[in-house]
Amino acid sequence: MQALALDLRRKNTQIGFVPTMGFLHKGHLRLMARARQLVGNNGVVVASVFVNPTQFGPAEDYSTYPRDLARDARLCREAGVDIMFVPTAAQMYPKQGRKEFSTFVVEEKLSRSMEGLSRPTHFRGVTTVVAKLFNLVLPTVAVFGAKDWQQAMIVRRMVADLNFPVRIVVAPTVREPDGLAMSSRNQYLSQDERRQATILWRAICRAKEIVRSASKPVSAHLLKQELAMLISTQPAAQVDYIEFFQSDTLDPLEEVEPGAHIAMAVRIGRTRLIDNAKL
Ligand code: PAF
Repeated sequence: MQALALDLRRKNTQIGFVPTMGFLHKGHLRLMARARQLVGNNGVVVASVFVNPTQFGPAEDYSTYPRDLARDARLCREAGVDIMFVPTAAQMYPKQGRKEFSTFVVEEKLSRSMEGLSRPTHFRGVTTVVAKLFNLVLPTVAVFGAKDWQQAMIVRRMVADLNFPVRIVVAPTVREPDGLAMSSRNQYLSQDERRQATILWRAICRAKEIVRSASKPVSAHLLKQELAMLISTQPAAQVDYIEFFQSDTLDPLEEVEPGAHIAMAVRIGRTRLIDNAKL
């Protein structure tokens, strides 16, 4: 992959990159379309499919994470992806001998809150694999989904801090008609859980309503209580966190006004879903 990318870069070809963990859905396809738009028809769009073991905790769903490479390949082709990069875990993280893997990339500030609190080694795995993928694919531009907002901000920070010569573009979350954010993990939901899962988007809409109709800033504490109560109307739902913060810095807010960012993680049965939006 790197030899191919070096060759393209020598010819001044723009490389647009969409890193994924596969089991592609419309959200991913939108990222690929954005990558194409950014590099144009003379550019090359690369999509990687790699279920990255280092970003899963020991009790998480690495082994059961949905995989369907044949379907992913078809969707990539249909989306106009030029190169699908599918490394193996053993290639990315050799375990033995001279090549044994032992270097990690750690972002130390933005990674501490929200997903980082609930999943302590998650972002270390994300920044490490994204750094490796950037060095292999050598993209001029990489497209990330806004659904993983914290991830996108951390990757942006890593790219700035470590001077990766790549532009990071964040593309909007794609939603089902009922508001549920598209995610490969949605397929874990039973029919009944799928219905209940719309509570994340409904809670975000409620927060928007409250904040936009208030004549002064709203206490984050009270707003969290109100949203937690709304979410608890769904029997399968269990709030992991609800946070209000400044979009780029992820600095937590005690008072919430329009323009503030909300993010939440909610378990629906055994499936942990996340969502976020600017209010
Ligand atoms: O967002 C994802 O799918 C993953 O976290 C990523 C960026 C592909 C890294 O494994």
